[in-house]
Amino acid sequence: MTSKPKEFTVDPKFEDYFRERIKQVFLYITDNCNLTCTQCLYKPWLRRNGEIPEYTALLLLEKLKELGAIKLSLIGGEPTLYGASNGHKPLLAVIKGAKDLGYEYVRLDTNGQFSPELLERVEFKMLDEITFSIDSHFNTINDALRGETSFSMALENIKKAVSLGYKVDVTCCVHRENVGRSRDGEFLIESMIRFAEKIGVKRINFHPLFRMDIPRDEWVGETDISLELWLELYEEIRKRTDAGRYKVQVRIPRRFVTREEFNESQEYYGYCPVKFGERVLVHSNGLIQICALRIGTPWAVARFDARGIFWKHETNELEGFDLRTPTPCTNQKRNFGEVIPLCISFKPKQNEIIWQKLGWERLRK
Ligand SMILES: C[S@@+](CC[C@H](N)C(=O)[O-])C[C@H]1O[C@@H](n2cnc3c(N)ncnc32)[C@H](O)[C@@H]1O
Ligand code: SF4
Repeated sequence: MTSKPKEFTVDPKFEDYFRERIKQVFLYITDNCNLTCTQCLYKPWLRRNGEIPEYTALLLLEKLKELGAIKLSLIGGEPTLYGASNGHKPLLAVIKGAKDLGYEYVRLDTNGQFSPELLERVEFKMLDEITFSIDSHFNTINDALRGETSFSMALENIKKAVSLGYKVDVTCCVHRENVGRSRDGEFLIESMIRFAEKIGVKRINFHPLFRMDIPRDEWVGETDISLELWLELYEEIRKRTDAGRYKVQVRIPRRFVTREEFNESQEYYGYCPVKFGERVLVHSNGLIQICALRIGTPWAVARFDARGIFWKHETNELEGFDLRTPTPCTNQKRNFGEVIPLCISFKPKQNEIIWQKLGWERLRK
């Protein structure tokens, strides 16, 4: 444990930008990881052995809560490695600390490679959700991306978490090996959803992987999918979800619309956390970003250390950003032809606390 700093100040520019606008915090609490997934968007910042000291994490959470944040996601790197050599005490203290501060929803994203005993710790049970990442329900497809035996270990922990009464979600990247159809013509993603139902998962989230002509393209391997296949897949899964075909909730990003659709409902499709200061991504290297498409770059809105949060004056991610007009996502630089890109976090009709609080669906015309 690090010693408590004398004072922790927040730059007035940061307060002005986020006060009563910020809803959620993604705390990239450690940059250490026990896997080396091919597609990992965090690759350039992984394994520098940086972590946010417990006191600093709690001070950050306190300040961000005062500004309005209600949801916390613990992420990394692999968050279950945070303070693992110290019996997970720092991780458990941050979970409990966040709940004590009044965060309404505290969740954790994990690769599932941890000792099942962690699930039995009292403070761990304070989590409102655990999201496990598996990239296929076929262990060979998953393990080819996430590493040998990673599927079986994650599955064991998923089953145990479900049996202990945790709210369990699964996140699955949509990549080259699972975007297509099986021999009988069914999308592999369709059978992945049924697999999630069968193992007692509450919700399944999808992250389609695209080249976007941004720095991240350089380090996510040959995992990207074609636009055509995605549009076909999205259409089919959306229709089935809307028709109530699944017992499990499906959270799937729209990603693209035509220019005409965008123009008909600009405010709705113009969803952009940068523009409305809805979130911060706090990284263990001291950067605070808003847009996940900037991960691995120096672009950030602020930085922090044990003394406080400071506005970033150079390579500030708000620089050159049109903060007033609803536009398609301008952080994806690729020309997608007939369609235009939306925010990667724009997931229509999702049953998620912030989406519901924002009442975003009401903006649809
Ligand atoms: C970076 S990981 C960190 C948390 C934890 N280590 C895990 O794997 O769940 C957070 C999520 O991002 C997903 N992810 C990794 N690479 C990605 C990429 N290139 N695009 C979109 N999501 C990605 C992971 O599959 C995981 O669900
Ligand atoms: S487990 Fe998570 S952080 Fe680790 S390499 Fe895989 S996606 Fe990246």
